[in-house]
Formats: sequence, C-alpha cells, structure tokens
Amino acid sequence: MKTYTSAGELQQMLREEKSNQKSIGYVATMGYLHEGHATLMEKARKENDIVVLSIFVNPLQFGPNEDFETYPRDLVRDENVAANAGVDFLFYPTVQEMYGEEPSVTVVVQSRTDCLCGRQRPGHFDGVATVLTKFFNIILPDRAYFGKKDAQQVAVIDGLIKDFNFPIQLIAVDTVREEDGLAKSSRNVYLSDSERMEAKELYQSLLRAAKAIDSGESNAETVRALIKEHIESHTHGVIDYVEVYQYPELKPLETLSGNIIIALAVKFKHARLIDNMTINMK
Ligand code: PAJ
Repeated sequence: MKTYTSAGELQQMLREEKSNQKSIGYVATMGYLHEGHATLMEKARKENDIVVLSIFVNPLQFGPNEDFETYPRDLVRDENVAANAGVDFLFYPTVQEMYGEEPSVTVVVQSRTDCLCGRQRPGHFDGVATVLTKFFNIILPDRAYFGKKDAQQVAVIDGLIKDFNFPIQLIAVDTVREEDGLAKSSRNVYLSDSERMEAKELYQSLLRAAKAIDSGESNAETVRALIKEHIESHTHGVIDYVEVYQYPELKPLETLSGNIIIALAVKFKHARLIDNMTINMK
C-alpha cells in the first residue's frame, strides 16, 4: 500500500492506471477505521483492479459545536486496517491540501437534506458533497462504496452523482453491526459502559418495527410511536428523531408503500447515534 498526501500526484498516477484500463474502486472515510469501513474496502477489493481509500476529517461538514477537533484519529492503526483489507493507495491529505486558504466554489445540496440529520446539521451535506466532488475528480473512480448506515448520505450522494453526471457507480453496502446489533461507528468509543449496554436497543427497536410491519402494520405514525416507546423505556438516551420516509427521496408518508426507510437518532451524553432500516413494501 502506498500513501499519498498530494492530490496532484495521486491524480496523475491514477490517470496513468486508468489509461491502462484498470478499474478503480473508491472508499471515502474520515478514519478511525473499524469493520464497517473494512467491509467497504473488501467489497471494493473484490470488484476492482485498484482500491483507493481516502482518510480526511473534513472540516466543511462539521458544525461550529460539533466534534471536528476531537474526532478520533489514529493513522498508524488505520494504515494497518487498510493494508489488511487490500487497499492499494491511501490518500491522506491535509486540510490545506484540500481547501487551500479559502475555497471559491462549494457545492450546495438542494433536496434530501431538510430532514433527519440534515435538519439538525445545517450545511453538513453541503460539506459532504463538496469534499466528495473533489475526491471524485481527483480519483476518477469507476465505483464508489458507501455504507447504508448513513442512509441520508447515500441519498444525497445518489443525487450528486446523477445531477453532476459523474461517471461513477454508487454501491451502497449493508450496515455492519456489533454482535448485539449496535451499528459500528467511530463515535461508539464515546459511550460509557452503561450507555454501550443500552445502545443495542436502537437496533432492537428497528427490528420490532420491522416485525410489526411484517405482521401487517402499515401506519407510519404507529411505527414511529412503537420505536419511540421502545427506546424511551429501554435507554436513557434522548430521541433526536424517529422518522419513516420514502427512500431515497426522503419524503414523509402516512401509509407505508414502496421503498421506505425507518431512521432514528438518539443522543447519549457524549455521542449521538444513528441507525436505520430500509424496507421494500412491495
Ligand atoms: P465515515 O463516518 O468515516 O464513514 C465512511 C464510510 O463508512 C461511509 O460510507 C459510512 O456510511 C461507512 N460506514 C460507517 N459505519 C459503517 C457500518 N457500521 N457499516 C457499513 N458502513 C459503515 O461518512 C463519512 O465518513 C464522511 O461523511 C465521508 C463520506 C468520508 C465524507 O467526508
């Protein structure tokens, strides 16, 4: 595995690889890699000649009161995880390398943002779309791999790729979970021991909802209430949202039909956890 810090050098080298008909799979991350990330890299490894991983804690997608400064970082460990997952090229740019002094053009996402995590984090998805536009142009991947854990992010990237005509196939990968069902996340390290025990109930609440839907429940409000009740009675977390939407359009619905997403966010003392489940009602 070779590490690059210069966008220009990586871009030039990858262009040469592409001119030799090599397919490129790309995984974007902010580091502190865990099995969720590794699963994306392994899938990219199977489906492409070359695998590129970026590690960049992107300041543009963090709000003023968010954890940009304290976001966990561990490059040495990350390099090991990446090499073991079969990554060929690691791109590890500085903030200066990505944005220089002051960017003159940034991307603004027009829809799919005024709900779920977007509502609480104004500008967050603009930051994600801006950094990915840059990474896509630097890396020119054939396939880009993203986790369904961040389902709203997948919906926004789906729009970005289509609207900006990136010749990239978006591959959405199932959420990787701990044994007890908690979705793997770099932020799980912020949970206290007792919060960690309770955190498994988030996925349990989704499973309960899925079971109810399977047994014929089709009222979105009833499903939301069921999830809220489960989380409130099994955890000390504070519910940020529990929503049921069409997916990937992220439009609200009263009666469940078509592709739907059930998504939730719960705040614990030092960590805000998200989880979701997509269901095809047809
Ligand atoms: P990050 O949170 O590091 O996540 C990188 C990728 O790993 C995302 O596509 C995310 O959905 C995926 N991922 C995280 N946990 C996962 C899990 N438990 N199972 C499956 N996939 C998982 O998301 C970002 O970084 C940033 O917003 C980024 C896209 C890199 C832009 O800065």
